[in-house]
Amino acid sequence: MDKLLVRGGKPLQGTVRISGSKNAALPVMAATLLTPGVHRLRNVPRLRDTHTFARVLELLGARVSFDANLLTVDTREVSSVEAPYELVKTMRASIYVLGPLLARFGRAKVSLPGGCAWGPRPVNLHLTGLRAMGAVLEIEHGYIVGRDARLKGATIGFDVVSVGATAQLMMAAVLAEGTTVLENVALEPDVTVLGEVLAGCGARIEGLGSRRLTIQGVTSLRPIDTAIIPDRIEAATFAAVAAMTGGTIRLENVVPDHFEAALRKLEEAGCALQRAADSVTVAGPARPRPLNVVTQPFPGFPTDMQAQMIAVCAVAEGTSVIEDTIYLDRFTHVPELARMGARIELRGNVAVVKGVDRLAGAQVMATDLRASACLVMAALAAQGETLVDRIYHLDRGYESLEQKLAALGADIQRIH
Ligand code: UD1
Repeated sequence: MDKLLVRGGKPLQGTVRISGSKNAALPVMAATLLTPGVHRLRNVPRLRDTHTFARVLELLGARVSFDANLLTVDTREVSSVEAPYELVKTMRASIYVLGPLLARFGRAKVSLPGGCAWGPRPVNLHLTGLRAMGAVLEIEHGYIVGRDARLKGATIGFDVVSVGATAQLMMAAVLAEGTTVLENVALEPDVTVLGEVLAGCGARIEGLGSRRLTIQGVTSLRPIDTAIIPDRIEAATFAAVAAMTGGTIRLENVVPDHFEAALRKLEEAGCALQRAADSVTVAGPARPRPLNVVTQPFPGFPTDMQAQMIAVCAVAEGTSVIEDTIYLDRFTHVPELARMGARIELRGNVAVVKGVDRLAGAQVMATDLRASACLVMAALAAQGETLVDRIYHLDRGYESLEQKLAALGADIQRIH
């Protein structure tokens, strides 16, 4: 299993080009199933998750090819409707194929995702919504099975704001018969952009960017031809690296509004920011100031940056309080950071972080994607050598992370 060896303590300097967004690419990849045709997706990040999703599409009968970051998906001969456990268990987002398969074929058999490293992650909103649209879904031997579905418009109100359920039902509704109204939808750019991509193919969606969507079903769509938006979480992670190492990093190919909540917190921590249309330069302070952070659905502070922000606060001058309201147990990085000398007390879903002067290199283990990023950040700021184990999690969501960090001056090496 690959590990990362990091010798920390250097401020990172330079320019980094941010890749396409994983979480925006995956639902658009699923949406290719809605229409038989040849779809072109540009700026798709080459990650384990996008490759896994490509494999799911192939198993359904699509022909998929990557040429650098251009992904071509030919869905003209899709013949299977089964997404097997072996793939879904490695990537929960595979569940995105459910809505498109039901909408196009009236049938689907998709493995029910299990829990994940930080606890249960239900899909009840996906299922309740699809059932409200007329799908008969049974759970059989660990699979969600839908047969003879003819999706019809419905009014669906979400009691929790869910990125996944919003994307799922949007994809189902664009080809359903009649009008679907979705209330209390997610506003994450990944979801809004999916709506824009579908609208560009002929879907009739009103209200994009608001909490209420009205979708008029159509009988057919044109194939997708789009560029995936920049990854706001990757961008915010590199911004946090500048904050933590006291360096200056220019982020290129970004949409600053997409990670404004994280940028504002980094400003509060003492970073100097220069925002432009598609770049941000972040100059870190000698030592970060402590922060109060509460994760919220977009446009609030993202849960996907909680771990990285704890790393910044671990070396802040004072005590920070960080609360995750989206995933209450998402703190597996905390005991690992403690091994590097961080002083963090967990009180339920709240981390109280007493900043220390310096972290010390140690052997640590990555437990999930963002927790891994947090440990690499801690390693970059720590004195001495850190060995980060199980970095396959990083490969799921950060394109060429160690090359990008090395180009900024990090002493980082992958050990096979
Ligand atoms: C997506 C992101 C993930 C991010 C999360 C929250 C992708 C591939 N993943 O995950 O990186 O951390 O948004 O921003 O885009 N919930 C339910 N029932 C459901 C669905 C969700 O109760 O059927 C709850 C969840 O437990 C959680 C909250 O809703 O507390 C938000 O989850 P959701 O937005 O659905 O997350 P994902 O779409 O799975």
